[in-house]
Amino acid sequence: MKNIGLIGCGNIAETYFRAQEYFNNINFVACADINLDAAKKTADQYNITALSVDEILNDKNVDIILNLTIPQAHYEISKRALEANKHVYCEKPMSVKFDDAKELLNLAKKNSLYIGNAPDTFLGGGGQLTRNLIDNNDIGQVLTGNFIFAFPGVQDFHPSPESWFQEGGGPVIDMGPYFFTTLVNLLGPVKNIRGRGAKFFDKREYKAGPKKGETFNVEIPTSYMFNIEFQSKAIVQGFISFDVLNHKRNHMELYGTKGSIVVPDPNMFGGPVSISGEFGSEWKDISVEDKPLGKTNIVNHSGRSNEAPEQANYRGIGLAEMIDAIENNRIHRCNGELALHVLDVIECAMISSIYKVEVELRSSCVKPEPMHDDFVRYILKKDTS
Ligand SMILES: NC(=O)c1ccc[n+]([C@@H]2O[C@H](COP(=O)([O-])OP(=O)(O)OC[C@H]3O[C@@H](n4cnc5c(N)ncnc54)[C@H](O)[C@@H]3O)[C@@H](O)[C@H]2O)c1
Repeated sequence: MKNIGLIGCGNIAETYFRAQEYFNNINFVACADINLDAAKKTADQYNITALSVDEILNDKNVDIILNLTIPQAHYEISKRALEANKHVYCEKPMSVKFDDAKELLNLAKKNSLYIGNAPDTFLGGGGQLTRNLIDNNDIGQVLTGNFIFAFPGVQDFHPSPESWFQEGGGPVIDMGPYFFTTLVNLLGPVKNIRGRGAKFFDKREYKAGPKKGETFNVEIPTSYMFNIEFQSKAIVQGFISFDVLNHKRNHMELYGTKGSIVVPDPNMFGGPVSISGEFGSEWKDISVEDKPLGKTNIVNHSGRSNEAPEQANYRGIGLAEMIDAIENNRIHRCNGELALHVLDVIECAMISSIYKVEVELRSSCVKPEPMHDDFVRYILKKDTS
């Protein structure tokens, strides 16, 4: 059993403590935060020890650091953890800069440590069924496709939305990891990207919290469109935006030589997966409710406009799978090469938009191995399906 020390006791921490209930190898022993009160509150709630960041990094009882700090702090915290000889699993993105993330990967390799990264949603029932259908050639060779994430922005519900509209934030860095990781898992690595970004307003209004009615500055583009070419030669069109009130498009569609597929929400774990064959044929919905990481486990979610009120959310499987990989000396699925490549796509999308040129990716990776239900059942505390 590996012991986990968590750094960053904010919103998403609760989701990882829930993962401790699902998976049989997640064991939190301590937590830390730059804000000591936040660490104390979390420690009290989950009956673990509150430590300072320095203390948790030096604690011999901690094997793995779970980095749940803000994206701008991911590099610093992950680097310090690797230097302290601890494995690291980090929330998305791996860092806000490709070069920094590359340094982390090299450091992990040099110290023979594991570095893993969210998102792990592609390991869900929906993501894995899609992968299975594509690998089985059910829609033939994927040639083209498209995806969308679009909503009005976090200012509608978040009292401190500023960081989403400053350097290191923005729609591509925030939501790109889910979509690009899903695409790389299905189609393999990206070759190049052409992007276009737009900032429509210099200021936005707080819609929630104590500053409601006041405005804050918008410093970066809030809508991006891009064309992505994969090494497989597939081309996929993407749109990620904080400037859309509502839409009715599917999250992602891929078109192959034998058929088409509607990929379920890359931000979540469930389904259904929708598939059709030749021109004009009927669409067939395939449920994943019978899959251990596809079954709906969240109801009455009061979330964003393009998230369903009922969904499957098993965040933490990436961490559990990495722990199993450490114990069995094998490569984990949410690995550093994959996360670095996804960050490369993100950064190249933004560079391409600024300079209005096609940008070649600097990195590559291999598609993670598919994950079978038998493995999921072995790692689950109790079968959810
Ligand atoms: N909230 C979500 O719905 C959600 C979902 C998926 C992923 N994520 C990702 O999870 C991460 C955290 O998101 P969140 O919503 O929990 O953020 P948050 O702002 O609620 O929490 C972050 C915590 O990290 C602490 N922190 C910041 N810098 C630190 C440092 N240098 N050292 C120690 N502690 C530090 C903060 O004090 C805060 O308590 C982000 O990378 C985000 O992209 C969030």
